[in-house]
Amino acid sequence: MKTVNPTSTNAWKALEAHYAEMKNVHMNELFSADADRAEKFSLTFEDIFVDFSKNIIDEKTFQLLLDLAKETGVAEGIKSMFAGEHINQTEDRAVYHVALRNQSNAPMSVDGEDVMTEVNHVKRQMKEFTNKVVSGEWKGYTGKAITDVVNIGIGGSDLGPYMVTEALKPYKTNIDIHFVSNVDGTHISETLKGLNPETTLFIIASKTFTTQETMTNANSAREWFLNAAKSENHIMMHFVALSTNEEKVREFGIAPENMFRFWDWVGGRYSLWSAIGLSIACSIGYDNYEELLEGAHAMDNHFKSAEFGENLPIILAVLGVWYNNFFGAESHALLPYDQYMHRFAAYFQQGDMESNGKCVDRAGNPVDYQTGPIIWGEPGTNGQHAFYQLIHQGTKLIPADFIAPAVSQNPIGDHHPKLLSNFFAQTEALMTGKSEETVVAEFKAAGKSDEEIEKLKTFKVFEGNRPTNSILFKKLTPFTLGAMIAMYEHKIFVQGVMWNIFSFDQWGVELGKQLANKILPELQNDDKVASHDSSTNQLINKYKEMR
Ligand code: F6P
Repeated sequence: MKTVNPTSTNAWKALEAHYAEMKNVHMNELFSADADRAEKFSLTFEDIFVDFSKNIIDEKTFQLLLDLAKETGVAEGIKSMFAGEHINQTEDRAVYHVALRNQSNAPMSVDGEDVMTEVNHVKRQMKEFTNKVVSGEWKGYTGKAITDVVNIGIGGSDLGPYMVTEALKPYKTNIDIHFVSNVDGTHISETLKGLNPETTLFIIASKTFTTQETMTNANSAREWFLNAAKSENHIMMHFVALSTNEEKVREFGIAPENMFRFWDWVGGRYSLWSAIGLSIACSIGYDNYEELLEGAHAMDNHFKSAEFGENLPIILAVLGVWYNNFFGAESHALLPYDQYMHRFAAYFQQGDMESNGKCVDRAGNPVDYQTGPIIWGEPGTNGQHAFYQLIHQGTKLIPADFIAPAVSQNPIGDHHPKLLSNFFAQTEALMTGKSEETVVAEFKAAGKSDEEIEKLKTFKVFEGNRPTNSILFKKLTPFTLGAMIAMYEHKIFVQGVMWNIFSFDQWGVELGKQLANKILPELQNDDKVASHDSSTNQLINKYKEMR
């Protein structure tokens, strides 16, 4: 990977000068000046239509942003990733989730070895297992078919499968899927209530098989199961593992034939395409899971081959950089107008923030510019009644992606046109705003006195000029969802390259884990602690008093 400080590039300097010209430009003017603007700044990929014309950009901005992507080595980065190079340099690993969805089956190698044989082997194992569970051929210890699958994992071993199984509920098989992630005993207790050990299967999903939360939950699940089943011999019918760590899986008591492997070149937050997707396959059936991979693969091909100016992940990435680094935007909202996608923002909180929440560049120096934004969001229209006020009239600039299907999976009455009318209205309102003249005219028409108008008018003015991308797709199918996830994954990758940071490690989560391991034994007696700072000592001692 090239190490280019983005601020040292010609494009960055040109963008700084250009920003001074653009910062006070209103999108309303840009639309008035160019009748073709919407068409010019829109793209179609398969069933996905992306309109990015409601951004504070003109053709020069767009070109300069693409130049910045070029100068910072995005083309080289893409090549390196698809070539299986060790671009995760701090962990000395390849970043090769694209191989997991390489539906073309063309050879893809890491360290000179084609990985496709192993990838295909695990996929066959997943298919066989899924088909047995879904068809009822896989039996529990009393000979009954499995009705419920509980995925125990956290972070990348939970968020992806949970998000996808929720998003693709209309494709659900007869298997009910549950997710336990939090080490808070409430999560597993509430999940197991109402489940029958005879018909419940646990998927222990952990790349490392050492994660405290997952192993604690897995042990509690094991205990719950053995309480009923009585014999450890029955474990093999009710526990399978998804991991890279065969030794730890064996230690836990799961037989190697019940282990679905993946590899160190699969990052946790990019792992739903690997064996970690087993809960997805059980939930929607193996063929639909393959469709999800197909969609991602199609997006991979687009990302690899499309010109920068027609490349969706690159376009979304450079627009993000524009607001993050020039307008000083601190966050980015993901706003799906699809209730099935209610975990989409949560999923990309890890995807984006664990990837690009870095402050040291690829040369090991502290960065002197902004990197990854805060990602957040909720489905519309709920968000409209919660936080949109701040997006419309607050003091912060919050670029947002509005995401919606044209066809509802539940076309009852006029729900869907109502939902989409809100999508279109919000993006329009955020862009156009409402001028003082309009506010005054409205007040006059409503018969308000001049005095009242004077008193109230400023509160009703909307400045507008709030940037949005509109992502409209036909229907939330496994293929389309796969393509959209891959689109955002690659957006994150492109931004990481442009910010000259390593997007595929996550050292920042380590410190808290280490301290928690140190504190845990201190909680196991009633002695007062004095080994921490005074606030932490006080809190631990208070807890001991209160418990
Ligand atoms: O939160 C840190 C992290 O390492 C994530 O990157 C990962 O997805 C998660 O923990 C779970 O890790 P594992 O799959 O090894 O249990």
